Amino acid sequence: MKNIDLYFDTEKNHYKILIGKDLFQQKIFADTLKGESVFIVSNETVAPLYLESLKQALANYQIHSFLLPDGEEFKTLESWQSLLNQMISVGLRRNDTVIALGGGVVGDMAGFAAATLNRGMSIIQVPTTLLSQVDSSVGGKTAVNHPSGKNLIGAFHQPSLVVSDISTLNTLPSRELLAGISEVIKAAIIDDRHFFDWLGDNVSQILSLQEEALTQVVEKACRIKAQIVALDAKEKGVRAWLNLGHTFGHAIETCAGYGTLLHGEAVAIGICLAAKFSHQRHRLSLPALEQIIGLIGAFGLPTQLPVDLDVSDLVAAMRLDKKNTSENITLILPEKVGQVMIDKNVLLQDVEQFLNEQRDRA
Ligand SMILES: NC(=O)c1ccc[n+]([C@@H]2O[C@H](COP(=O)([O-])OP(=O)(O)OC[C@H]3O[C@@H](n4cnc5c(N)ncnc54)[C@H](O)[C@@H]3O)[C@@H](O)[C@H]2O)c1
Repeated sequence: MKNIDLYFDTEKNHYKILIGKDLFQQKIFADTLKGESVFIVSNETVAPLYLESLKQALANYQIHSFLLPDGEEFKTLESWQSLLNQMISVGLRRNDTVIALGGGVVGDMAGFAAATLNRGMSIIQVPTTLLSQVDSSVGGKTAVNHPSGKNLIGAFHQPSLVVSDISTLNTLPSRELLAGISEVIKAAIIDDRHFFDWLGDNVSQILSLQEEALTQVVEKACRIKAQIVALDAKEKGVRAWLNLGHTFGHAIETCAGYGTLLHGEAVAIGICLAAKFSHQRHRLSLPALEQIIGLIGAFGLPTQLPVDLDVSDLVAAMRLDKKNTSENITLILPEKVGQVMIDKNVLLQDVEQFLNEQRDRA
């Protein structure tokens, strides 16, 4: 089992990220659980696979559980409200613990419920998708979507523990596995040229779920994220690097309709667009651009803007993105593999022209 200690804000605030196989054991959870009850949030797909074994590991506690409908389209204020209603009706107390068992949708919603009920309760993230193991379970961002934008309503609320059991990835549909790879590639582009090359050398080992390769993927991507979050837990500076591909990606997701493209697929396209935009502005060399698009394509992820999306809708969605002011937007642009920069002054009209050019080439 690998163990990463993530520190944030001060040396006193930290939590463990445990990565390995067969981690649903009492001793893994015991130190973190304080109250008498645990409230497990999962969904109707993940619960039949893993809820029972998680319950067995928590047999000493009073266990409540709540299943959300499955899908990004249910990551809403209405679902959050039903979740809170249930948490209140079972009499959850402040020192009890919420456990999120599932992918990023469950994790973000359970996290937001834990952030808000009783002005903040402890949450343990038990991510079961690659995307949630390498990204969403770590770092404390919680949210629900609003029709005007993704993750528009939320809070920073760090978990007390993250338990990433890579054996859960055996049941994950391959399209979902790939969607997680895009966040892994993102981490490598931001911070680690060596890891980027290693990914290129291990495509088949990763796609065939070889244990050693998968453990390395989750550990390395988590370490990169943990280092960045430790420097800037509330996204006042370098944490924005982690948004590489996300401003384009969120706009693509919003315009395609939640649930059409997977988050990770939209991010893969978003990274390619950010890299192309950076190259057009002479910040990224052509070989580096080709390597980035090449690695994303090698995993079978999409690299092109979908032809049916309207550029003016995309630009409107980017303007509305919570990180942007109305005239300029902020983009994270790769400068080379392993290094990105924050450009806070990108003119929306330049983005619009760029996207129109991409459309013409498609
Ligand atoms: N909080 C953050 O920092 C952060 C970062 C990145 C993404 N996100 C959010 O994460 C969400 C995407 O997460 P996701 O990609 O995990 O999607 P997801 O939670 O929708 O899970 C994908 C699908 O896989 C199923 N599933 C989950 N685990 C499974 C397993 N082990 N076996 C079989 N099926 C399984 C789910 O039920 C779902 O159908 C988005 O809402 C995104 O905004 C949040």
